[in-house]
Amino acid sequence: MPRFKNNLPVKFHLPEIVKGPWTREAKQRALDRDLLEHYIEYFGRALENRNWSPWHHFPLDEMRQWGNRLSAETVHLIEGFLGVEEYVGDYVLESMNIFRESRLRRNMQLQWGAEEAKHGVSWELVLKHSLARTEEQLNTYLDKVRNFRWSPQQHPGMETPLGFSAYAMVQERATYFNYQEMRARIREEYGLPSAPTAEETSRGSEIGASEAFRVVGIDEVAHHGIFLRVVQTHIKYFPSDAFETLKKVFDGFQMPSLSLIPNARHFLRAVNRTNFYSGAIHREKVHNFVLKALGLEDNAAFEKAVQFARKLPENLGPDSVTLSRLGEWVVGYSEAPATS
Ligand SMILES: [Fe+2]
Ligand SMILES: [Fe+2]
Repeated sequence: MPRFKNNLPVKFHLPEIVKGPWTREAKQRALDRDLLEHYIEYFGRALENRNWSPWHHFPLDEMRQWGNRLSAETVHLIEGFLGVEEYVGDYVLESMNIFRESRLRRNMQLQWGAEEAKHGVSWELVLKHSLARTEEQLNTYLDKVRNFRWSPQQHPGMETPLGFSAYAMVQERATYFNYQEMRARIREEYGLPSAPTAEETSRGSEIGASEAFRVVGIDEVAHHGIFLRVVQTHIKYFPSDAFETLKKVFDGFQMPSLSLIPNARHFLRAVNRTNFYSGAIHREKVHNFVLKALGLEDNAAFEKAVQFARKLPENLGPDSVTLSRLGEWVVGYSEAPATS
């Protein structure tokens, strides 16, 4: 195993970028270089901190022991999340088309897909070992998942590499939020306090299904983080394009595959009965969070940033433009702009 330093392999050298003028090509080269750096850091962290296996590391016996405390609603919700995660094949397949021309982005999607593939298995194991579903029921469910195909056309703005990343940035944050809520719900039904007990803390893992949602949640927030960095990097070099895409993706956002999953009716009923998710929750916990992560105060600031991003000159370098929290662009020509 090679040594890592600051999450970069010790002997790794990034390609040099020629400084300005900031033509579109020069900006694309600089963007690719930044993305490579972010990906290497992400990849190093994934191997060092998130290298887990659902079959080997989850407390399956405890799931069996505590499983009968889970409510029917909780089981429907977990089953629905199993369905959503099981469309990973379609998510990766579609992204292979979108990222075919970029070796880096292709590899990033493959790594992401390998991590996502463990999540469907996680919910399968939780349902099976909690004795909430039999193996036969699970196989029937998984067969039904394959009857439908997920497509990015169901999601406005997702058809470009940047759009795919912007969508993933929001979706991963929403998924992280959902899994944290599931974890809290399971702990309550298990009769455990919301924070880990002293015993859980000392052994380094939580009880039964709570541990599965903790571990998968860490993946989801890491996914949100890498896609957020991809979007931030696009904003740095191509602010007009980036905000045009963000507007489309935010306005048309809905979670993937919810209409395709085999238990859609039961799942949505459980969501409504438990007030698990709604438009208001999405705005507060996901949309506003994402805006703040992008450095914006609120939605009014975002709309302002979109409106004025369209008017930014094409040849601005990344050091010549900054975005305030209120959505105002400040342009200063610290470097000579390109003349061609
Ligand atoms: Fe996932
Ligand atoms: Fe994810």
